[in-house]
Amino acid sequence: MVETSIGIDDIAVYVPHLYLNLNGEFTESRKVDPRKLASLGVSKMGVPDSHEDSVTMAANAALKLIKKNNLSPEEIGRIHVGTETQVDHSKPVGSYVLGCLEKDLGEGSLRHCLVPGDAIFACLGASGALLDTLNWIRAGANDGKAGIVIATDIAKYETHSSGEYTQGAGAVAMLVRENPTLLSIERPVGVCTKDERDFFKPLHRTTPVVDGKYSNRCYLDTMKSAFVDYRAKALRAGLVKLANGEALTDHIEHLAFHQPYPKMTVYAAAFLFRHEWRGLPRWQQIVRQIGYEPGKEHFQTDDEFWTADDQWRRRFTEETDQFKEAFNSKVQSSQEASRIVGNIYTGSMYLGFASMLEYGEHGPFDSVGFGSYGSGCGALAFRGTLQHDHSSVAGSLGLRSMLEQRREVSLEQYGALHEGKANGSIVKPHDEFALVGIGKEGCEEGLRFYEFVK
Ligand code: CAA
Repeated sequence: MVETSIGIDDIAVYVPHLYLNLNGEFTESRKVDPRKLASLGVSKMGVPDSHEDSVTMAANAALKLIKKNNLSPEEIGRIHVGTETQVDHSKPVGSYVLGCLEKDLGEGSLRHCLVPGDAIFACLGASGALLDTLNWIRAGANDGKAGIVIATDIAKYETHSSGEYTQGAGAVAMLVRENPTLLSIERPVGVCTKDERDFFKPLHRTTPVVDGKYSNRCYLDTMKSAFVDYRAKALRAGLVKLANGEALTDHIEHLAFHQPYPKMTVYAAAFLFRHEWRGLPRWQQIVRQIGYEPGKEHFQTDDEFWTADDQWRRRFTEETDQFKEAFNSKVQSSQEASRIVGNIYTGSMYLGFASMLEYGEHGPFDSVGFGSYGSGCGALAFRGTLQHDHSSVAGSLGLRSMLEQRREVSLEQYGALHEGKANGSIVKPHDEFALVGIGKEGCEEGLRFYEFVK
């Protein structure tokens, strides 16, 4: 029996209207070499205004998706939010989002819509929500209805830290249903999970505790393991057949990785391709050109090994045609939005996918590999196929124009917003959900109030 295709029917992105230019005032005040930011691939960061939070961004992305697809509330069976930017220790972002949407769709209209608790696993949350929603449909529990998965986050680090210039904010809403127009997603999911300390946010903090370099290594190792697991499962299921000399990634036209900053996708692609290509004929050409990879056994300390390995990786990515061709055709276009939005944590891989659709070249039935990572830590690898009419969705994303219409803020304005000390909104909300108040006492202490501002 042929399985019904299930996947992403449409996608809507929301980013704040404000951004900070990372060149000039910022690099001078932070005493950071602009060449470092160029190397990381970041040039602007999205900055949330004072009326914005993870709820408003999620609700704005979801409403855009609902309007674009003319969805009635009866057609929506589930809203599942992935986030690490909670606004409450108990009440999920998802329930606030449902309340916002009902302001437009009608009070009580989503009463029978399932809102599972927010999926929280650092940047992996939305991928967990997406895979659960696919399975909810596969299990037939959806009663013919569609699911909406929303990734929403504000990536906020300490000012003057090395994470600061990777900050960003935004939300991505995805309509998940049978016979999708955009992307069908296969069943096998490669998994790797570990109990790690690379990045975490204790309950008393609003910014994370991060071991930056270590977090990169956790990401790479876990991502590779997830792809190894995916490969075994896909081969077993007969979804991929490898001829002699072929690698799994030869069967994947586009790759969207979790993207805390664009350079991370270079590191990820290099780590994955190295693992995949070792032992294949093309590897001999690479070794002839740049020499053997450093072996761990030849170094006294881990740091010495990683320094040598970084040097080899730089030669591999910058000098070999094999890497450059594979990277440019499969990954590069996923970096464009991230360069000027920044990290949006759990939405960043999906923003990369949207970026690929907006800025890249793609055709019907191209396959797309996803490598999702969340600190703490876990990775998920899965594959989808662009559908026959995917270009109708790709052509209506409006990502480029949304990014062009943003307004620049000064370093001082950014600083005030970062500290939560801004005096009102910099750009007054217009045709969007906004946070309009937070209860002060009694049964409303800490309760958040949202309105759709016309
Ligand atoms: N001129 C030219 N290039 C320069 C330079 C200069 N003056 N200074 C640095 N560079 C280059 C470096 O050579 C390096 O490139 P290569 O790897 O190709 O050599 C690049 O700029 C980065 O430099 P460093 O590695 O020295 O930078 P860093 O130590 O400050 O760390 C970071 C960078 C780890 C990303 C840091 O910004 C950070 O901690 N970020 C937050 C955590 C993070 O994003 N981790 C990613 C993995 S975890 C994850 O993905 C979850 C998540 O979303 C947070």
